[in-house]
Amino acid sequence: MANTKIEQRYIDEHPESMSRYHTSKNLFPNGVTHDARRLSPFPMYVTHAKGSHKWDVEGNKIIDYKTGHGAMILGHSHPSIVKAVQDAVAEGTQMGCSTDKEIRWGQLVNELVPCAEKVRFQSSGTEAVMMAMRLARAYTGKTKVIKFDDHFHGWSDYATAGGSGLGGIPKETLETMIVLPPNDIGLVEKAIKETNDVASVMIEPTGSHMGLHPIPTSFLHELRELTERTGTLFHMDEVVTGFRLSKGGASRKFEVTPDITTLAKILGGGLPGGAVAGKADIINLIEFKDDASYNHNERVGHPGTFNANPISAAAGTAALELVRDTDVNAKTEAAGGKLKAGLNELLGKMEIPGQVTGHGPLLFVRLGVDFDVEDDGATFELTDSEWSKVNDGHRNSQLHLALINEGIDPMSNGTRLIIGQDHSDQDIENTVSAYEKALSSVRESGLI
Ligand SMILES: Cc1ncc(COP(=O)(O)O)c(C=O)c1O
Repeated sequence: MANTKIEQRYIDEHPESMSRYHTSKNLFPNGVTHDARRLSPFPMYVTHAKGSHKWDVEGNKIIDYKTGHGAMILGHSHPSIVKAVQDAVAEGTQMGCSTDKEIRWGQLVNELVPCAEKVRFQSSGTEAVMMAMRLARAYTGKTKVIKFDDHFHGWSDYATAGGSGLGGIPKETLETMIVLPPNDIGLVEKAIKETNDVASVMIEPTGSHMGLHPIPTSFLHELRELTERTGTLFHMDEVVTGFRLSKGGASRKFEVTPDITTLAKILGGGLPGGAVAGKADIINLIEFKDDASYNHNERVGHPGTFNANPISAAAGTAALELVRDTDVNAKTEAAGGKLKAGLNELLGKMEIPGQVTGHGPLLFVRLGVDFDVEDDGATFELTDSEWSKVNDGHRNSQLHLALINEGIDPMSNGTRLIIGQDHSDQDIENTVSAYEKALSSVRESGLI
């Protein structure tokens, strides 16, 4: 098939990226190292990043709205984090012993996260969620975990249930997961009562994929009440929302305290890091007792070469101190509000059906239908046929390329934007005018 005008401009302006892709595609599946980094006709390759910008291998300066899959709320190459990492590298990167750095990092989690009586570090959100599910099963003596349709909790065998890419996962593993549509507390109660075997209910607090299918806050409160009443653990997965929606994440913002939470992304200050945190008697199932039989059969084991490694601990500590001591949350919330308003005004001006919605710094651009949004700015109702207009893959992928052509790198085909503290008023203005040009190109192609 012939390239579209948008694709041809992308190809013409990214010869260096194309040449790297020819090498990468023989090395890596789809030429990439993360499912979400695929891009047709080929991905953009970047060299470095600073603040709200990154530079591609062709030397173009791009406003970044991926913000490191959501890890870089403080902006790229923040001087305090760079210094903390440089100092830590010189002191030894992996000494196989406990360090002051891990204590400081743990204290900050304990101070900021409402349910975090105790903490255990891992190297990623995926690992943190695996540990949270295992702790819930050990704590309750029950097997099943309830999760919600398409909610993303990393790529472990269990967490992938209800998502896609199920190849290689034993069906026995999937059968231990109960996947329910969100927002129906009656269904959750029925599953807990009928099976009498549910260890925990796990949720992304703003809805699947950071809020792609948003949920009302009232559902979190309903889940908290139900789980408490039925002796089921409530697990809020705050890998994305933690330290972002407020200093204490969605939990503090929405005033819901779960039994257990999982953290990553901002936690590691831009380096790999994950943590499970929660009530002490749950996390303490990792502790050894003076009882060989208990240790062998009941204790929850947790080794891991890079758990709380000093470099991630140093970066994470610097990041969490900045979250605690500065107005990063207020800044990103305000910038998100400005960008949301600017893009909604643009859609109105261009007479393009759609809405930009989202909580604070997590924004979603939904094209194809006009709809009303609740007062929280994030939740709304759409029919299946309206969702299919919003999810038009060809239109959205053309929008993504058109935005890169205009100097913007969004997530999820131009439909998701994650704001960091360095996104300035000028960046926001430039982003709105880049969307105007990109949407005009998509319209010219007949897709709007
Ligand atoms: C809510 C949620 N949980 C878990 C994960 C997995 O984290 P990681 O990519 O660090 O393994 C993610 C990743 O995006 C996530 O969004």
